[in-house]
Amino acid sequence: MRRLSMVRLSAVALTVLAVACTGEIVDPSGDAAKAAAAAFKSDVEPTLTAKCGVCHTGTAFPQFMRPDPTLREGVLKFDGGKLLNLDDPQQSRLAVYASSQAHAMVGTNYQPAEAAKVVAWAELEALAAGKMPAPTIESPIITPVVGENTIDLGALGLTGTTFKFDYQPLATGMYLSRISVTAGSGGVRLTHPLFVVWDGNNPVPDPIDRFGDIDLTVAEMTTSSVGGGTAVFVDVPPTAPLSLYFKAATFANGMPPSTDGGTTGGGCKAVAQFTAVVRGPLTASCTSCHAGGNGGATAATDMTKLADDAQQMAACAQILSRVSKLTPDQSALFVAAQPNSGLNHPFKFPSDTEFQAFKSAILPWITAEAAP
Ligand code: HEC
Ligand code: HEC
Repeated sequence: MRRLSMVRLSAVALTVLAVACTGEIVDPSGDAAKAAAAAFKSDVEPTLTAKCGVCHTGTAFPQFMRPDPTLREGVLKFDGGKLLNLDDPQQSRLAVYASSQAHAMVGTNYQPAEAAKVVAWAELEALAAGKMPAPTIESPIITPVVGENTIDLGALGLTGTTFKFDYQPLATGMYLSRISVTAGSGGVRLTHPLFVVWDGNNPVPDPIDRFGDIDLTVAEMTTSSVGGGTAVFVDVPPTAPLSLYFKAATFANGMPPSTDGGTTGGGCKAVAQFTAVVRGPLTASCTSCHAGGNGGATAATDMTKLADDAQQMAACAQILSRVSKLTPDQSALFVAAQPNSGLNHPFKFPSDTEFQAFKSAILPWITAEAAP
């Protein structure tokens, strides 16, 4: 059995995980806790001390770096344990929030590889707390080429099922669009796809885990987008190999096909604000193509419901899936029409000033959607 942790943890940790795989009960005071403490010391503490301590030890900002009695325990206990998610370590606030745009505006963020180490530590803490990490299923690794790329999921027993995306390099990262799954016979159900960028032998999972809420079922011989179908990864080598981890990858087994790319967890929270501040700018610049006038545009991002007062919830959900709530500047909704973003898109704002005006009109709505 492969687990996410196994591919990126130390030999000590691997032994502990191997024990866990056999189903033995993990003693919280035993090897797992020792491995977690060691991982914190070597992989997490140096980054926290160097990048975070100046604000999070003795200022009026959240003081999660106060030792209690050790730094590790202080971090674990802070505010009722809210910084680590032991049920889903990838979603730990200590990793995700310090990778978000909101935090970058007030503090210093991790590099993706540093966030990956925090998640790896959180996985060990989960094990030490007696939780069994869900097995992770890994796709083959590919080196993306400009244009269409295919990851064959036949290796996972899903013969004929492929995961596709278009790839364009950015100056400091990658732009993925038209992310989709085509199911072979028997259909497919994929949950929680996680993009992993390989830096040499080190897997660096998407630090904001943007497809964490995807539970996608695709009927055989059909194709569906994955969530909103786009993702921008920054601060990763633009030509690095890529793979995917899944929480589950099975045949459809009678599950009905998903709508909306398999996004779960509800649609928009701020529909009235969407209508008030987003509808206007989209109508002014985008709906000439995206509300049916251009088939390719409407298929890529559907704005056909935008004009209909009775369908604002659906109109909002369609746009929300093109937005990165944690890193708004990386949203496809912005990058597509941004001058000089490096992306091909039939419409670009004529000047950066006009693009910035479009963005600042829409940002308050994204902030409202991102609020906990
Ligand atoms: C220049 C100061 C500064 C630095 C450096 C800084 N932060 Fe922050 N951080 C803040 C402020 C201010 C807040 C509270 C405001 C907010 O939530 O956006 C915050 C909030 C947080 C929170 C949310 C805490 C909570 O109670 O919800 C986390 C987690 C966090 N920071 C992690 C980090 C990590 C990890 C680093 C280092 C990689 C770091 N911060 C570096 C200023 C900073
Ligand atoms: C002149 C026609 C036109 C206009 C105006 C236009 N688009 Fe598009 N847009 C397209 C087409 C065509 C595609 C599909 C491109 C493709 O399939 O590669 C597209 C794709 C997109 C995508 C999906 C990007 C991707 O990589 O999959 C987004 C998001 C988008 N447009 C946003 C916008 C926004 C926001 C505006 C207004 C500011 C806008 N578009 C205005 C024609 C247009």
